Amino acid sequence: MEALIREWDGESVTVRFDKPAEAWIFIAIHSTRLGPAIGGTRMKAYPNVQAALQDALRLAGGMTYKWAAAGFEAGGGKGVIAISEGLEPEARVELLRRYGSFVHNHKGLFLTGPDLGTSSEDMDIIAETGNPYVFARTPAAGGAGNPGPFTALGVFTSIQVTAERLFGDPTLGGKRVLIQGVGSVGRELIKLLQQQGAEVLFSDVDEAVAAHVCSELGLQCLIPDEVYDSPCDIFAPCAVGGVLNEKTIPRLRCRAVVGAANNQLANPEDALRLRERGILYAPDFIANSGGAIAIIGMETRGWSREEAEAKVTQTIKDNLSRIFELGETEGVDTDEAARRLADQRLAGTKHSDPT
Ligand code: PHE
Repeated sequence: MEALIREWDGESVTVRFDKPAEAWIFIAIHSTRLGPAIGGTRMKAYPNVQAALQDALRLAGGMTYKWAAAGFEAGGGKGVIAISEGLEPEARVELLRRYGSFVHNHKGLFLTGPDLGTSSEDMDIIAETGNPYVFARTPAAGGAGNPGPFTALGVFTSIQVTAERLFGDPTLGGKRVLIQGVGSVGRELIKLLQQQGAEVLFSDVDEAVAAHVCSELGLQCLIPDEVYDSPCDIFAPCAVGGVLNEKTIPRLRCRAVVGAANNQLANPEDALRLRERGILYAPDFIANSGGAIAIIGMETRGWSREEAEAKVTQTIKDNLSRIFELGETEGVDTDEAARRLADQRLAGTKHSDPT
């Protein structure tokens, strides 16, 4: 753990061991250069404490780039709650309340929202003790609700931009898209793709969820490990991170990777590996920025849902087109191109928002 923190390029990480739930909690603040750190709260059972800390550190860094690229005056941070398997619902609620006061202790240096393993309903609970530092509560509680549909819209837009780049045409009729993970984002993405006549295949590690989506939407479901070998036009990772690595990349039979998961690349070199295989990669922190953009816009700038949708589409379209262009003109992989774009914004004095 010491080595992880020593080698990290972020600002601070606060730690709490929650005794009643036996849960480790980390709040990682990567950068407050552009503003207070904003990032979701991830809640899951990790194989060990180090893995949880590592996730928090990496995810917080991703948020710094996400906000910078999106043109928001916000910094990067992330909350991770490492629970033990089989946490009872009531115990979970109590844990969320204690987490809320931990967030509150940061006095506005860290603000949070939903992420993998947490929902808008959970944000309502966290807000009981964490207000006013909690985004995306349910509409009933005065929040903008689930960011999932906006994240899906952003991924969908990214797929269109990518299709245009690859095939000279953004329409998706007859194109095959393979979705890994059908949670709140993956499911919405399926609907958007089907409306455009795309052929959609999917997988999910949760067999019950997979069976449900399969029968409900009549889609072809793959067993989880098959996704890496199945031919498709676009591979859309919408579950956990690290799925693009030295083992999986040689197996891929797609033209592009465009998905919602955070930290899709196991290592920075994996972006080069994809490039060498001729697979176009839409950097995750660009493709998945829709939810964050929409929620912060609606809750701090008074955007309507329609305005939020328009901003998500426009911001992602502009950024991704620029990144693809930059990658080509500068001869670098697209992840590097996206980081350069974000770094330019981070290097400037506190920039005023373009919107
Ligand atoms: N979990 C979101 C993401 O990774 C972060 C988020 C923050 C969402 C604030 C909504 C509100 O982008």
